[in-house]
Amino acid sequence: MIEPTRRQTLGGLAALAALPASVRAAPPAPASLDALARKGGRRFGSAIAWNPRSMDSGSVQNPAYAALVRRECGLVVPENEMKWQWLRKSPDSFDFSAMDGIVGWAKASGLAVRGHTLLWHRPKWFPGWLNKYDFGANPATEAERLLTTHIRTVTARYGAIIKSWDVVNEAIDHDRNAPIETSLSRAMGSPEAVLDLAFHTAREAAPGAELVYNDYMSWEPAHAKHCADVLRLLEGFRKRGTPVDALGIQSHIEMFSLDPATGVGPYREREWRAFLDEVVGMGYRLLITEFDVKDKALPSDVAVRDAKIADYTRRYFDLMLGYEQLGDILAWGMVDKYSWLQGFAPRDDGREVRACPYDDAYAAKPMRAAIAASFAATG
Ligand code: G3I
Repeated sequence: MIEPTRRQTLGGLAALAALPASVRAAPPAPASLDALARKGGRRFGSAIAWNPRSMDSGSVQNPAYAALVRRECGLVVPENEMKWQWLRKSPDSFDFSAMDGIVGWAKASGLAVRGHTLLWHRPKWFPGWLNKYDFGANPATEAERLLTTHIRTVTARYGAIIKSWDVVNEAIDHDRNAPIETSLSRAMGSPEAVLDLAFHTAREAAPGAELVYNDYMSWEPAHAKHCADVLRLLEGFRKRGTPVDALGIQSHIEMFSLDPATGVGPYREREWRAFLDEVVGMGYRLLITEFDVKDKALPSDVAVRDAKIADYTRRYFDLMLGYEQLGDILAWGMVDKYSWLQGFAPRDDGREVRACPYDDAYAAKPMRAAIAASFAATG
């Protein structure tokens, strides 16, 4: 190490003396969530949007939000901009403008990017034209062409920066407890044929990348059937030799009621561990891809709510971080007001859902401390 000269030391001290007292006294910035995650060989990230229409959004265009994501995260995932509804306004066109925006910003910010999602296999989230598409005389061939062209085109464009893809998202029909039917599966003969082709095409087009099946099964009692359906899906992939590397566990954990024993939402710890054990037992790695908390059952009082959300978050992270197969961990947004939950799962009292690590003033919440503590405790 080069020893500073006397002049440099004095210069440094003078510069320090020149700083306002509040800065001099300011405690050192806490280690970022990503830095803490990396101590355990993982990364921490967040969803982010591209919204040229409004800076007041969880987007790259919001300087405060972008700065927070750069400060806390090591990777990002597009909240919507890589979905078919955004990329494919018509059968013969691709609109990469928004996704290019996010990728360009991430590169400039030194952040990695996850791909979400090459195929959200649900009619509700297909572009309208795909739900009523005429597959012609050879429907299977045409459906295969559409799907493989999409996956090859998207992975070719972003494969240099994206090394982990949600190839398929949320493909279970919860009414039939089986893989969901779509216009593509009807054309190709079965949902399994669609999912398998998606993964094989992704493996061929992005050979070194992590291929993920992503879904929202969770540890709450209401998700027991969903967990069983996903296990069957994962077993099917193994039986058919479908190249799936990991299960993306969205982790939109929820408190729709309270367990008097714990004061937080009821969760099935033993069954959830059994589910995860079966998943890793089949050789799948794990990711937390969309973490946030629904606080519907909690009282309005913010301090009480934040404390219970932090407690629930700590219980969840401590359990999940116990799995060495767990890799990347991403939040589905960093700031409450921009969370999808404000629209999708509003509270009965009309108060804002306190779903994210930071509040609307960009102040870290007890949830952020709980995540940091869990990283520190579990390494
Ligand atoms: O941008 C348009 C705007 O122009 C229009 O005025 C407005 C009203 O219709 O809609 C805006 O688009 C909305 C978009 O979010 C941006 O806010 C879409 O309607 C709305 O459907 C879309 O919701 C997204 C949803 O996925 C469906 O794609 C949420 O932001 C996004 O957080 C959510 O994310 C999903 C994951 O992909 C998969 N797992 C669950 C997760 C939460 O639902």
